[in-house]
This record gives sequence, structure tokens and C-alpha cells, in this order.
Amino acid sequence: MRFGIIQYPAKLSLSEKIFNEYFKEININAIYEGININPEDFDLKIKNILDNYFGLNITVPFKERVFKYLSAATDSAIFLSAINTIHKGIGYNTDWIGFYNSIKNEDLNGKIMVFGAGGAARAILYGLYKLGIDKVVLINRTYDRAIKLKNLFDKKMDIKVLDFDKLNEEIKDTNVFINTTSIGMFGEKIPLRLSNNINLVYDVVYYATPLQNEAKEKGIKFINGKMMWYYQAIENLKIWNIYDERIFNKIKL
Ligand code: ATR
Repeated sequence: MRFGIIQYPAKLSLSEKIFNEYFKEININAIYEGININPEDFDLKIKNILDNYFGLNITVPFKERVFKYLSAATDSAIFLSAINTIHKGIGYNTDWIGFYNSIKNEDLNGKIMVFGAGGAARAILYGLYKLGIDKVVLINRTYDRAIKLKNLFDKKMDIKVLDFDKLNEEIKDTNVFINTTSIGMFGEKIPLRLSNNINLVYDVVYYATPLQNEAKEKGIKFINGKMMWYYQAIENLKIWNIYDERIFNKIKL
């Protein structure tokens, strides 16, 4: 069985590493590969890839471009305009489910602030909506992008968009802070100080960031992006019909 992740540029993803370990553990004859396509060649190559892989992931910058090559997509993938998992010609979005399952047992009472307004923010807002959250504050460097996201969720939740320079002021009475940007991946700092009010920090970055370190120092609970990856991976394995909970639990992230 062949599996893979369609991506650009080439990189060794957590998916490639962990899924191959998992395949060994469950003893199936399968391989998971990084499939690197130059965006210019996408339309030329995608059909052949779809025909030759049992299960696929698809990531930036192709999550939207793949729609027209599939026979169907789930409602959530259509709403989010993003597919990250494919099986038998059907497109799924498991990013939001990954977020949902990684945060569903946390205390989400009080004010929630989402930072960033890209693809990850879209999936996370959808996850919050599915968790029954009806109000969030959204701050992004580019204001207009945040407004677009607010409009997308128009009928679903009340999103208050604030200017980027309000970040530090607004954080003072925030209870849950969610970073959806890649800031921190290379040690960069988000221009804010975590206040005493915060009881949960969620950071989509996989590895330790200054934000996560600050939370740790201040004794604030934080969840990092590996958990979102972990729970979306479970959903992928379920879609591909190869999920064994006991064995997947044993894999170290
Ligand atoms: P993803 O799919 O990972 O969310 P994206 O759609 O490119 O990626 O979105 C990246 C997000 O991170 C955006 O909200 C972006 O802000 P802009 O909309 O202003 O571009 C934010 N971002 C990335 N680098 C940033 C930085 N150095 N400072 C502030 N925001 C940043």
C-alpha cells in the first residue's frame, strides 16, 4: 500500500516519520512518502498521483487546488476550502478535528483570543465553532485578512476583529490564547506578554517556542502543535481504515 503527502517545498514531515514507524508496528506492507510537486507541475501530475496512492495527505500550497480533481469532498472541507486527506477520490479536512480533539477537554470558559488569520486559523475557528464557542477575538497582522475570516463565519460565531497593535492590551483579560501563526518556529517572539489571566495557551508550532517557554515559566498550561497533528493523524488512519488505537498510542511523537 502506498501513502504519501503532496507538498512543496520538499521536507521531512512529521507524517512521513511517524506513519512509517506506525506501519512497521502494525506490520503492514505500506510506505508513506513525501511527494514533492513544483506548483507549476501540479495540474500535470496530480491525476497520476491520485490513481497510484491508497491514501494521501495534501498540504500547502495545494489544499485548495486539489478539489477539482476529486469526485467529492466533505462539508467541512468545502466550508474550509481546504483538503488535507484523500481516500478513494474523496477529500476530507481533518485539521479542524485534530484541533477539536486536542482541546475538547480543556476549560474554554472566558475570553478566547485567536492570533493569525491564515489556513490554520480557519480550521481552528471551525473547531471552536464545533465545540460550541460562539464568541472570539481575532487579531492578525493584516487586518483585512481577519475581516475576511470574520465574514466567512458570519452566521456561525461572533468574531471581534481588533488591530494588531491592540494585542498586548487585549491579552490582559484574555483567558485562552491561541497562536495559529508560525511565529516562534525559529525563536521569534510574538509581541506580547502573557498575563495572569491566561489559563491556557495553544500554539500550533510543533516545537518549543518563546511563547511556550513563557507559558511554562509562568506555570500556564500550554498545548503545542504536535497534539493537533496527532489527533488529525488518528482521523487520517481511520479514513484509510488502518487505525489500531493500541499500537498508535505506543508511537512516540
Ligand atoms: P497557515 O496555513 O499556516 O495558517 P498562512 O495561510 O500563510 O499559513 O497564514 C499565516 C498566518 O501567520 C497569517 O495570519 C500571517 O499574517 P498575515 O495575514 O498578516 O500575513 C501570520 N504571520 C506569519 N508570519 C508573521 C509575522 N512575522 N508576524 C505576524 N504575523 C505573521
